[in-house]
Amino acid sequence: MKNTLVLKSSILGPHSQSTLLIDQVLEGKNGIIERDLAENSLPVLDRDVATALRGGENLSNEQKAILALSDQLIDELKAVDQVVIGAPMYNFMVPTQLKNWFDMIARAGVTFTYTENGPVGLIENKKVIVVTTRGGLHKDSPRNSIESYLTTMLGFIGLTDVEFVYAEALNMGDEPAQAAREKAAKQLKDLV
Ligand SMILES: Cc1cc2nc3c(=O)[nH]c(=O)nc-3n(C[C@H](O)[C@H](O)[C@H](O)COP(=O)(O)O)c2cc1C
Repeated sequence: MKNTLVLKSSILGPHSQSTLLIDQVLEGKNGIIERDLAENSLPVLDRDVATALRGGENLSNEQKAILALSDQLIDELKAVDQVVIGAPMYNFMVPTQLKNWFDMIARAGVTFTYTENGPVGLIENKKVIVVTTRGGLHKDSPRNSIESYLTTMLGFIGLTDVEFVYAEALNMGDEPAQAAREKAAKQLKDLV
């Protein structure tokens, strides 16, 4: 088993389907670093946080702490071989808590840089597996903005080896939900 960073972002605690799926496949494995972004919320990107993330002098103590936390999150990401992201769909997007993680690690000169040919990601050689859970069916429709957002955001920081594991129709009756869970668990097991 590769060293793995697991990012959970469900707000549903013990009822979370994405957490259940991830735990079912990864629990007890070696080399796992877990971050539950809903249990331990990160700062929301605002003017103070954006200033903190640019670094430099004249940061308040709070901003210095935000910058240190961002450094820690980036070091955590750099240290692993693969990342498993739990990405439930809430109101057609990823949870705010997961967006906050990306906002904390997207840093010019640290995780991406601009060149004359455009932006280049600075995080390399990692596999990313996204486990995305949904009540309905959206995978092959324009409503699936989660896949394009995550593919773009991960690619922007250099992570282009991304696989999506879908568990859809979870609120469409017991049978389709169970079938979706089983299929997703098998896919995740094969990928990690
Ligand atoms: C606040 C909220 C918003 C949701 N929005 C959507 C949605 O836009 N589309 C959808 O198919 N399901 C939606 N659902 C259903 C969730 O995607 C479903 O419960 C899934 O299991 C969430 O993953 P989780 O259990 O890991 O949190 C929503 C659920 C909640 C609680």
